[in-house]
Amino acid sequence: QTKRWNIQKEQPDQQAIKEAAELLQNGQTVAFPTETVYGLGADATDESAVSGIFRAKGRPEDNPLIAHVATKNQLRSLVKPLPDVAEKLIDVFTPGPLTLVLSNNGVCADNVTAGLSTIGIRIPDHSVAQTLLKTCNIPLAAPSANISGKPSPTNADHVWTDLQGKIAGLIDSGATGVGVESTVIDCTQEIPVILRPGGITKEQLETAIGPVMVDPALANTAENPKAPGMKYTHYAPEVPMWLVPGKAERLQAIIDREQGAQKRIGVMASTETANKLQAERVIPLGSDLQQIASNLYGALRVFKNGNVDLILCETFSKSDIGQAIMNRLEKAATEYVEN
Ligand code: TXA
Ligand code: MG
Repeated sequence: QTKRWNIQKEQPDQQAIKEAAELLQNGQTVAFPTETVYGLGADATDESAVSGIFRAKGRPEDNPLIAHVATKNQLRSLVKPLPDVAEKLIDVFTPGPLTLVLSNNGVCADNVTAGLSTIGIRIPDHSVAQTLLKTCNIPLAAPSANISGKPSPTNADHVWTDLQGKIAGLIDSGATGVGVESTVIDCTQEIPVILRPGGITKEQLETAIGPVMVDPALANTAENPKAPGMKYTHYAPEVPMWLVPGKAERLQAIIDREQGAQKRIGVMASTETANKLQAERVIPLGSDLQQIASNLYGALRVFKNGNVDLILCETFSKSDIGQAIMNRLEKAATEYVEN
């Protein structure tokens, strides 16, 4: 039985937060909202609590979790002395959608970091997450609150569908904002390295701290990525998805051709492109990259075996948050239709 609370983002109900915090302090798992996606939390210092997360999600144990904390001081308590570049990143971007990979001091349980000498930490920018973290006063290990391999949850119903009955609690605070996960940046290298593109863009990072590198594995799928989680199948919808470069005309030509082969077609595209298309199911994602990021995972979850046979998705610019959008789409897709 999973307990579900409705908690207003604008004015978090202290009593409900307290109940959720008590479950967490007792070693249970509770899903909660952040500004990116919902997370599945457990006491990061308690090995058996953390193993509850892996069990509920069906997550491979070699994939490390992010520890969530409320404040910079709490972050400091989990790591070796911070490099200057990390101090700067924390001051500029936190709370916010940025995860710093730092030298682990061993306060968190070993299974949080999958045995690595580093630990990923983030300070979420969401009033409910902040209040929950302060109330339970422990770091919370929290991966995205989806069944492993599925798109991350951007509202509480997504979490409920995946994890109902497998977790102790779910805090429903409506839709998250950013829609794609935090940027993961490795601060243990001479020049920091982006391991996963996300809510904070490379452009923003470079404005704050100068040059940053991008894990070469993000460009070349043949290499083993440094963020262990990036090597698994991810964000996959139930039916095959093709990425289609080019605009409405090209998409419509492929829709027509595949409909001719008796396939029911679902389409995801910018609102501008979507308005020009005819298919069984067309989902407009929004008119700019921020909106597209925010609507992406919800759209992927709409398509089911029962309603379409094939998804076609427009490709987007890789600038700004487009980098994260295209990274997720490339992982979710089964094919890239060449020009
Ligand atoms: O926005 C987010 O980051 C969300 C919300 C809930 O905070 N969390 C999230 O967690 O996306 P998860 O577990 O789904 O993804 C964490 C990513 C994985 O790719 C993992 O391999 C990587 O971060 N990661 C975690 N610790 C790491 C470490 N010490 N070194 C390298 N990569 C790490
Ligand atoms: Mg995830």
